[in-house]
Amino acid sequence: MNTNRLSASMAASLNAQMTKEAHAAQIYLSYAAWLDDKGYAGMANFLFRHAHEERNHMMKFLEYILERGAKVKIEAIPAPGEEPKSVNDCFEKFFQQEVDNTTAIYKLVKESFEEGDWATWHFMQWFVKEQLEEETLAMDLLDKLKIAGGEKASGEALYSLDRDLKDKPDEAGLAEDVTTENP
Ligand SMILES: [Fe+2]
Ligand SMILES: [Fe+2]
Repeated sequence: MNTNRLSASMAASLNAQMTKEAHAAQIYLSYAAWLDDKGYAGMANFLFRHAHEERNHMMKFLEYILERGAKVKIEAIPAPGEEPKSVNDCFEKFFQQEVDNTTAIYKLVKESFEEGDWATWHFMQWFVKEQLEEETLAMDLLDKLKIAGGEKASGEALYSLDRDLKDKPDEAGLAEDVTTENP
């Protein structure tokens, strides 16, 4: 008996999004390593935690696909793109990555709606809310950088931003505390 509850195209789209979340984690790891290398340990820490959150999103997709009786396809994760050119560029890239991901999430919402796959539509609403939060977080950071002077931010301004970000929560929990309900 066939117990697969996802259409072939929906399973393919969910698998692709799973890899996209892993890709976002790789991108943030590369930015975090770049920041740490430049001496911004606080900002690096923030992005290391955020990379972890993206891995949790990947797991949420993986578990959902399995839950619906479809096949999970683990594929190669694309390499992160170019390194940032400055702290300002780094956080602009961070924002752009989140916006691109929102576009991908919306596509999945639309696809599930058009298919009448209400279980997937419902599952995707969590990500709609999550992207709203992550875009807000990225916008707040860009606002702070703008006040600090953007590309012309002084060493002193970047120093205090780095200190602020060291402990800024971004809702990424420790791996052992994470569940699919609360990634
Ligand atoms: Fe994500
Ligand atoms: Fe994200």
